[in-house]
Amino acid sequence: MKGFVFDLDGVITDTAKYHYEAWKELADQLGISIDLKFNEQLKGISRMDSLERILAHGNKQSAYMQEEKEAFAAQKNEAYVQLLQNLTPADLLPGVAEFLKEAKAKKMPCAIASASKNAPFILEKLGVIDLFDAIVDPATLTKGKPDPEIFVKAAESIGIKPEEAIGFEDAQAGIAGIKACGMYAIGVLADEPLTQADRTVHSLAELNMDELIAL
Ligand code: BG6
Ligand code: MG
Repeated sequence: MKGFVFDLDGVITDTAKYHYEAWKELADQLGISIDLKFNEQLKGISRMDSLERILAHGNKQSAYMQEEKEAFAAQKNEAYVQLLQNLTPADLLPGVAEFLKEAKAKKMPCAIASASKNAPFILEKLGVIDLFDAIVDPATLTKGKPDPEIFVKAAESIGIKPEEAIGFEDAQAGIAGIKACGMYAIGVLADEPLTQADRTVHSLAELNMDELIAL
């Protein structure tokens, strides 16, 4: 193996709770009830696709014009970014800082494959942006996860083939994308089993990097 590809939300830091809080505020305002179980479906899904799923959940997919939908998504993002202001390096998930530093020492390139347009801001806040060699810009994608496009681009961005990379994901849609391009998939922090993952861990601290490189 020659490099690592990471999802951000749920792998590097636990921002799912902030996404949920911000979506719930908007859903309440639109008279749509969402809960944590429903929130699982939004993991790995882009901002606009998440909004569409919430509207469909409330049977309101045709109730709004595109402009109104864009305003709702912007409102959600403002609330979300507000919640991110207090992020610090202490919000890195266990084992992440150590893993990234070891990868750098061993010259294993690392890329971010996240649907989040807030990824650079979050990585700055967490103090780890310099430990990544590339961040795929989700605005350049034609398809979201579970399509493998983002993972193929991430491998390309660090100059390796998908099958030479190990991908880390907490969402089923992400694991499906990783496997669809022939990458080795490690499922992280999953409460529910991630089907198709080659391996599942609760934290990156459980992993031995030399064993991963030798895969
Ligand atoms: C993914 C999250 O990483 O990013 C999704 O799992 C989120 O829940 C998506 O909708 C897009 O994020 P953002 O920050 O661009 O709204
Ligand atoms: Mg995720």
